[in-house]
Amino acid sequence: MFSDPVREQIGGPAGPPRAGCRRAGADLCGIGDLADAELAEILGQALAIIELPSLPEVLRGRQIVAAFAEPSTRTRMSFTAAARRLGADVLAFDGGASTSASKGESTLDALRNLDAMGFDAFVVRDRQQGFARRLRGELRARVINAGDGIGEHPTQALLDAATILEAFGRFAYEGKHALRGLRIAICGDILHSRVAGSNLRLLPRLGASLVVAGPPGLIDPAALPSSVEVAESLDRALLGADVIMMLRVQRERLPADLELPDDASYHARWGLSVSRLERAKAGAIVLHPGPMNRGVEIADAVADGSRSRILRQAHVGVAVRMAVLARACGRQDLLPRAVQP
Ligand code: NCD
Repeated sequence: MFSDPVREQIGGPAGPPRAGCRRAGADLCGIGDLADAELAEILGQALAIIELPSLPEVLRGRQIVAAFAEPSTRTRMSFTAAARRLGADVLAFDGGASTSASKGESTLDALRNLDAMGFDAFVVRDRQQGFARRLRGELRARVINAGDGIGEHPTQALLDAATILEAFGRFAYEGKHALRGLRIAICGDILHSRVAGSNLRLLPRLGASLVVAGPPGLIDPAALPSSVEVAESLDRALLGADVIMMLRVQRERLPADLELPDDASYHARWGLSVSRLERAKAGAIVLHPGPMNRGVEIADAVADGSRSRILRQAHVGVAVRMAVLARACGRQDLLPRAVQP
């Protein structure tokens, strides 16, 4: 058994919360859930812990449900790795054929039942926009949004921001000046991408200038904040860009009557090739949240080239999710923090 100071340090076994009480910690359903100071804290903490050879198991005794009702490779594995590296247990629920979904149970009912078993946090991905927010009102456990339809994907935007900070030697504690002077181009399916949804909310708060570009039907200029520039072509968006974030066409979310060019024509007009990349600044970096459709929105030579920070995004993502999970469980203060000069 642990001595009291040790139990104090790691929080002891989670156990079910008292009836009617929400667990300590905080939800993350969208970027708007984060105050400026929290934003800087998560980004700074992620960058501070990213290369540490070992971390304290600040989530020992905690149990986290990963409830993914949509396909996922990176996000699910990244959250799972982050939780386990901090000592938490992760239980997966996919709402698939082996679950009572096949008997007609809704995801909401299933998750309310799981919540009654006493978990600390739910990491949720769902087809329905607003699902994580709705769940927050129903559960005692904390809710982290891992993608809600065309809504938001806050941890992806946070890891994108952390990757940019790292690449340009910027500091999260500088808050709304952290990305000042950087021009960030987000290109592709802006309308249906929850990655764009969260980045459009996050990156301007860190001082970046945003320009977006995408084919007709995949962008709605009227729905964008007025501070965001809309370029009529990828070539225009790339001019003077420091960061280029390429997005996949979200084919599974498109209206049936939307006609899009075939892959080769799409690539010719909207794909990031080596020659197009020359329009960006000399030190520009390329990001993509994955999954990439090589030869469609991005050429192989760019995806695998020296400007690409795509695998770094995956690396940084684990640290970002550690910080977010620790915050969700009220343990963020026990993780090493960024040191400010
Ligand atoms: C993104 C998603 O699921 O929104 N993927 C991810 O989480 N890395 C992007 C996409 O599917 O295009």
